[in-house]
Amino acid sequence: MTASITAGLIDTLHQAARAAGEILYEGYQAEGSIDFECKGSSDFVTHYDRAAEHAIIETIRRAHPDVGFLGEETGATPAGDSDLTVIIDPLDGTNNFLHRVPHFSVSIAVRKGEALTHGVVYQPLLDEMLWAIRGQGAYQGSQRISVLPARPLTEMLVGTCLPYHEKGDCAMSQRQLSSLMPRVAGIRSPGSAALEIAYTGLGRFDAFWSQGARLDLWDIAAGIVIAREAGCKVTDLSCNPNPAEWNSVLVAKPEQHDKLLRILSK
Ligand code: IPD
Ligand code: CA
Ligand code: CA
Repeated sequence: MTASITAGLIDTLHQAARAAGEILYEGYQAEGSIDFECKGSSDFVTHYDRAAEHAIIETIRRAHPDVGFLGEETGATPAGDSDLTVIIDPLDGTNNFLHRVPHFSVSIAVRKGEALTHGVVYQPLLDEMLWAIRGQGAYQGSQRISVLPARPLTEMLVGTCLPYHEKGDCAMSQRQLSSLMPRVAGIRSPGSAALEIAYTGLGRFDAFWSQGARLDLWDIAAGIVIAREAGCKVTDLSCNPNPAEWNSVLVAKPEQHDKLLRILSK
């Protein structure tokens, strides 16, 4: 990745996230119920998911024609003469969007080889841009963010994603909830993994984990870059920081990560 490509890339990712955000904003404000199709059991997709992904790909392709894509709605498009893959979730939180719960995001990450290098998570209703570049810090808009000192376990607010109808492992999630619930101040599952992970970098959550929900790479990749650059320790639940596949994820302040891992692994 040459310096000139990386310099321009983050601006392009911001533009792409805003273009998608405009489409989602419009859909959220439109009157009446939002039409949807089922991709699978309780797995919904709307015209807005597809239009947002299209806008992201077109915006990035204009500036960086050789990059590859892995999009939730369009699948894998191999790269040309580039080692970059852009990982896209155009609407993370479709179920919230359909119910007009104001908690969803646009999530765009970049992977160079095996390393996640860029992450952008955009909340269009708040016009809030959370982003990071590997080795260059995490930001809320133009403001650098970094994790605050750890709170005691009994003051912690922890985010998670839960399994639902025919997706994931309910028994595993119940075991983990039973183990963690009595020890912390609260557990929340608001419904946009990308936002919850980015919020952990921002300090709105003290930690985030998910295992039973079986998240996909596009749900978590951008958030991981942001949380890491803000100072969080991010691994899977086997404590691997770079698994070939993210079957689980734990995001926490470095001094609390291993303690949470032990509790969740009981
Ligand atoms: C969903 C969100 C949600 C998580 C689900 C995901 P989608 O993504 O990330 O927080 O609990 O498992 O599928 O389908 O709205 O892009
Ligand atoms: Ca998602
Ligand atoms: Ca999605």
